[in-house]
Amino acid sequence: MPSLPVTAPARVRRADLSDLDDLVTLEQNAFDGDRLSRAQYRRHLDSDSAQVLVASGGRHDFFGSAVLFFRKRSRVARVYSLATRPESRGLGIGAALLQAAAAAARRRGCDRLRLEVRPDNAAAIRLYERAGFRRFGAYRRYYEDGTDAWRYEQALD
Ligand SMILES: CC(C)(COP(=O)(O)OP(=O)(O)OC[C@H]1O[C@@H](n2cnc3c(N)ncnc32)[C@H](O)[C@@H]1OP(=O)(O)O)[C@@H](O)C(=O)NCCC(=O)NCCS
Repeated sequence: MPSLPVTAPARVRRADLSDLDDLVTLEQNAFDGDRLSRAQYRRHLDSDSAQVLVASGGRHDFFGSAVLFFRKRSRVARVYSLATRPESRGLGIGAALLQAAAAAARRRGCDRLRLEVRPDNAAAIRLYERAGFRRFGAYRRYYEDGTDAWRYEQALD
């Protein structure tokens, strides 16, 4: 991956096979556990029930990604993963990815977007609440290390 900082506004697009290396590297850098593997990313790139979104600033720049899941006959879409490269944080790229996820969910006929987050992930929680997500529940011992998850939901108009 090239060096940053970001100089151009990020645009968000669907990921393709050429993004696999960047997706896997980001996953390894952004999360300590509960990671998506290369094989899982490859499957999600080619699946009707998933959308992998990438924020990029140009042909070779890769700033972050989001993974969105859909279920048949459900109007609830799920943001399974959201991450931006450490060098690109605090620039609104996470917000841009969330906005694109909401737009993709609306296009699929969904009326709600849900996600889970660690209660101690202050940056992510701030981002979600600013984007209009509301906490509505929790999962006990949700993560691999036994931490609970807070559940968040956003109504899509
Ligand atoms: C969470 C994450 C995706 C945010 O991405 P980002 O590109 O920095 O997002 P944005 O720039 O749009 O917004 C980040 C917000 O968090 C705030 N923030 C950053 N670090 C923070 C911290 N340590 N504590 C509180 N807020 C923090 C920023 O100030 C900003 O809010 P503001 O614009 O109101 O000031 C990114 O930090 C990340 O990849 N983290 C590691 C992976 C992760 O935890 N993903 C979420 C899993 S649920």
